[in-house]
Amino acid sequence: NVLILDFGSQYTQLIARRVRELNIFCEIKPYNHLPEDLSEYKAVILSGSPFSVRAEDAPHPDLSQIRGKKPLLGVCYGAQYLAHFNGGSVEGSNTREYGRAKLSYVKENEPFFDKISIGSQVWMSHADSIKELPENTTRLASTHDVENAAYKFNGEDSYAIQFHPEVYHTTDGKQLLENFLVHIAGVAQTWTPDAFVETTVTELKRKIGQDKVILGLSGGVDSTVAAILLHKAIGKHLHCIFVNNGLLRKNEFEDVLHQYKDMGLNVKGVDASARFLDALAGESDPEKKRKAIGRVFIEVFDDESHLVEDAKWLAQGTIYPDVIESVSATGGPSATIKSHHNVGGLPDFMKLNVVEPLRMLFKDEVRRVGASMGIDKTLLGRHPFPGPGLAIRILGDITPEKVAILQEVDAIFINGLKEWGLYDKVWQAGAMLLPVNSVGVMGDERTYEKCVALRAVESTDGMTADWVNLPYEFLQKTSNDIINKVKGVNRVVYDISSKPPATIEWE
Ligand code: XMP
Repeated sequence: NVLILDFGSQYTQLIARRVRELNIFCEIKPYNHLPEDLSEYKAVILSGSPFSVRAEDAPHPDLSQIRGKKPLLGVCYGAQYLAHFNGGSVEGSNTREYGRAKLSYVKENEPFFDKISIGSQVWMSHADSIKELPENTTRLASTHDVENAAYKFNGEDSYAIQFHPEVYHTTDGKQLLENFLVHIAGVAQTWTPDAFVETTVTELKRKIGQDKVILGLSGGVDSTVAAILLHKAIGKHLHCIFVNNGLLRKNEFEDVLHQYKDMGLNVKGVDASARFLDALAGESDPEKKRKAIGRVFIEVFDDESHLVEDAKWLAQGTIYPDVIESVSATGGPSATIKSHHNVGGLPDFMKLNVVEPLRMLFKDEVRRVGASMGIDKTLLGRHPFPGPGLAIRILGDITPEKVAILQEVDAIFINGLKEWGLYDKVWQAGAMLLPVNSVGVMGDERTYEKCVALRAVESTDGMTADWVNLPYEFLQKTSNDIINKVKGVNRVVYDISSKPPATIEWE
């Protein structure tokens, strides 16, 4: 196990993902929540930070239990911190050093830089520079602009690098982390999907025993993988509930329910479409639509969970990015623990014990775990789909007719992407039904019908996104199909806005 001490860098999660890609387990902790017992950690990495080490309010944790006692790697701020507090000097540089650079010097026969040579590209992102190294250190690498790009403390396994090994643009970043963690710190590479499944299933069996567990399936990757893991551990004691809110894609409810049953899951499909559509009738405010859907979902889920007698646990597909305590801009860890003041007012299922088998996994790891358990590729590779479904893709108020139109349009678009081999190249795609009618002609008739917008984006996490340059021939064919086949639509547009400033959904 490796500890990553977070000083608030936007890249901290990336460090963790790179380490995990080496099949090494790691955890992120805020710098001011250093675990009391460090015995289980084989190595420690200090992250970057938006702070300057010279600032009074910058993170200045006590590393006396770590430095010289465990292999230590300081990255960017981490490297500056180790320099500043050990007699080196860190100063503001005249220009911010940001972007690509190439190593112009690498110390020979240095295990830390094994298989990494002069000329290797690294990614810099810092305003301060280490002007002088502390005593008893050795410079290990330089770039043209940054003399002290890497150094080590003599006689101990403490290393520091000014550049970011975790970003994709640092070509040998993964090699460097491997050199440090595997060859210097001797950490075992045993964190594999198979090993995760084995230990998690054993742990779930021990924790849950013969109790009954309730889990809400959404058709998405996380809830599905969580369900399969629990199913392996407790079989039929896992009671899955899959709710049709009437706002899913065309045939999605039936298809996915079928797939779940084929996987052997004990799943109940609940068609509550009418309840959701009733609650939404006449509502056109996006946030009120979301709230109504959330409220009805809780009601339906509560009703259904009561039908499972003696349930003791509620399983959730929470993943690691949702549970990492973040370092806030003011330096303190932000409060992530929500307190339920009004426990009496909670729906009953929320009073169950919570079990979250994926809470230590990143999204890409969830997919790998799913694949290692034999979950179908098409299910694991599905685009993200928002909880409120088509409700936030129908601008304005929602009627069953509008839902039916959008389901048809969406199906033509998504099936087309699959047929043209484009589906996996797109991070998310969907169609929006706009609250405008426009004039058209069909045959000799003048029409006055709906307009739909198609949206396809590339992204890694949904936080930023860019529209996808879909082939004109594909757009042409799709537009034709939609207008010819979907009654009520006479115009199709393609959304060419990136996020920011636009969002992925239109509501
Ligand atoms: P935006 O539109 O904010 O979307 O750029 C970013 C990602 O979040 C999804 N999304 C939602 N997911 N409930 C959800 O479960 C919501 O209310 C919601 N709104 C947006 C969106 O599909 C995209 O993947």
